Amino acid sequence: MRTLISEIVNKEGEKVELMGWVDVRRDHGKIIFIDLRDRSGICQLVFIVKDKELYEKADILRSEWVIKVVGRVNKRPENLVNPNLETGKYEVLAEELEILNEAKTPPIDVSGDGLEIGEESRLEYRYLDLRRQRMQKNLRLRSEGLRLIMDFLQDRGFIYVETPILGKSTPEGARDYLVPSRLHKGKFYALPQSPQQYKQLLMVAGLERYFQIARCFRDEDTRGDRQPEFTQLDLELSFTSEEEIMNLIEELLVYLAEKLAPERKLAQKQFPRMTYAEAMGKYGSDKPDIRDKRQETRDKELAFLWVTDFPLLEYSETDKKLVSIHHPFTHPKDEDIEKLDSEPKKVKARAYDVVLNGFEVGGGSIRIHQRSLQEKMFAVLGLSSKQVEEQFGHLLKAFEYGAPPHGGIALGLDRLFAVLLGEPNIREVTAFPKTGDGRDLLMNAPSEASKEQLKELGLEIKKK
Ligand code: AMO
Repeated sequence: MRTLISEIVNKEGEKVELMGWVDVRRDHGKIIFIDLRDRSGICQLVFIVKDKELYEKADILRSEWVIKVVGRVNKRPENLVNPNLETGKYEVLAEELEILNEAKTPPIDVSGDGLEIGEESRLEYRYLDLRRQRMQKNLRLRSEGLRLIMDFLQDRGFIYVETPILGKSTPEGARDYLVPSRLHKGKFYALPQSPQQYKQLLMVAGLERYFQIARCFRDEDTRGDRQPEFTQLDLELSFTSEEEIMNLIEELLVYLAEKLAPERKLAQKQFPRMTYAEAMGKYGSDKPDIRDKRQETRDKELAFLWVTDFPLLEYSETDKKLVSIHHPFTHPKDEDIEKLDSEPKKVKARAYDVVLNGFEVGGGSIRIHQRSLQEKMFAVLGLSSKQVEEQFGHLLKAFEYGAPPHGGIALGLDRLFAVLLGEPNIREVTAFPKTGDGRDLLMNAPSEASKEQLKELGLEIKKK
């Protein structure tokens, strides 16, 4: 039976069977040392020249070959203990060796943290890049984070619901990814920029507390903290308030930080709050980094912050019209509703963003739940009644059947995990990210469609 490498520390004197990859091979003449790696750690294997056949087999091993070894766990002499390895007090004296698979010389080094290697190579050979311990740890902690979130929210009455990926456009300020329909030629699904409308419809459906680890798709330029597809923790509550949502999220974020990054220091467990006007006035940013720059512990610090009282609308120079700062479903502050016509830019939103060390890690709002006010918003945004009916008729209709007051938030999990784990960008916590210009170098996507596929979809590619 296979033993995991991390378990050998409890098996001194026992015979074990290990399987994994050759991390490093060191040839010391009469002795060959192999550092063997599996998902649990690294340990030293010893092959001695006395066992000639075995020694000769070990001699041909190279980095990243996959092997199975049977051997005995021995304590290393005091002066040969490796304090950098969890298993460093022990080694395994090999008795049998089986080569499960050979490997070409890896094009990238997988033993270090990899940050010095060109991104193109790391992404093209991502399956090798992910072998490095740093990436293994990031993926493991991300998985652990998802488990903690699942338990935390379900313990508080939230219901996990999966919403469609093939849907209709929901505006979040980016371009949509469109999917052509084969059965309805000339028509398109839009991939969700977020589950915003579906989660509001779930409130109309009486769920009261919804959440989802949701994949979102936005066709916008990629940056260090932006990917064309990313993951949100999306949630929505009925009969709620800004206060309730902010308290819930604070409790969750403190819990996640303490579990996933116990070595980091929380600046404040009760997150400070700042209005948008204050943030812009004092820091010139709506996502200020409020860590104390003079403190030496700055790297270790996690400084959360709420930004509130955003304007509801802004004038877009590109579109030459008013656009929503969050999205068109955001509730205006009650006392400002009358200004929607006269001074629309002065209307404030019942919206809040959560910021961590200068990154916007989440945003949400109390929503409009009445048809008349939602129609008013669309009118202020310059949509004709025909456009409104086509794009949002379903939501307006739903609001006529007893829609409860509701609100919610979405956390950008990639950003949250990247900051918690001290990574410089979200690609370091994403298994298969895309390049800056939106390519998947491993699978080579996007790629051309075949003539047959295009014909079935009723599409023609215009030649340049
Ligand atoms: P918003 O658009 O603010 O709100 O998105 C919520 C959070 O998602 C993260 N995020 C991204 N992360 C990586 N790559 C991207 N391209 C990207 N875009 C956004 C950010 C952001 O704070 N439906 C609303 C939420 C709501 O109102 O409940 C929404 O999507 O961390």
